[in-house]
Amino acid sequence: MRIMKLFLNAAKSVYKSPVRYLSFLADSGLKADGDEPLLIVGSSRALVQRLGSQVEVKTAFITEEEEGDLLLELEPGLKKKRYEFDHWDDAIHGYRETERVTWGAACQTILARVRSVAFSSGSSLLGPVHVLDLDKTGYIKPHIDSVKFCGSTITGLSLLSDSVMRLVKEDVSSEWLDVLLPRRSLYILRDQARYNFTHEILKDEESLFNGHRVPRQRRISVICRNLPA
Ligand code: OGA
Ligand code: MN
Repeated sequence: MRIMKLFLNAAKSVYKSPVRYLSFLADSGLKADGDEPLLIVGSSRALVQRLGSQVEVKTAFITEEEEGDLLLELEPGLKKKRYEFDHWDDAIHGYRETERVTWGAACQTILARVRSVAFSSGSSLLGPVHVLDLDKTGYIKPHIDSVKFCGSTITGLSLLSDSVMRLVKEDVSSEWLDVLLPRRSLYILRDQARYNFTHEILKDEESLFNGHRVPRQRRISVICRNLPA
């Protein structure tokens, strides 16, 4: 039984073969200038510029030591669960997950930093933090998080693996962004990027960013959400 089932509106109508995206990958919207790594590419420069402000990726948001602190706290609980592979209707394949309300001191410090960066000070947050452990073969299909249960902002830390998050405009599948989520980065999705675009995490076989392969290992995400206004 998925803890987060309530959060996900199945996006079956927009779930199509990903193959069509590949021909658009050359048309990246941002240049990697100076030491800014290229993290967002998309179907057009205009879309990358417009939507890019609502999609943030902060690389090296946590240190290796902090990643270790989170894993130390999360692994014992996760290891007791089996990865779920059988629920083909679900938005997520090859996962196990948990929610956590209380954290040890080191993790509390990290989560306070996540919240202070991602949410404005007045916003009410969803208490439990969602922890999603994707097997190496696991992936997240396109979906939009339920507007009933979560607000305008979704933020997540990526542990253990790099991955590619794809955003596709609902009902306009030619409009898309691919977002590189390096291990130990924080991403933030806001507003239109959260409400009007599906998001997904690509499976290993399809994990390409701007034409470059991004091998997917086991990946744990630690996700914070706010409440609807
Ligand atoms: C979700 C989701 C993204 C992630 O659980 O709704 O989209 O980073 N997760 O794991
Ligand atoms: Mn989601």
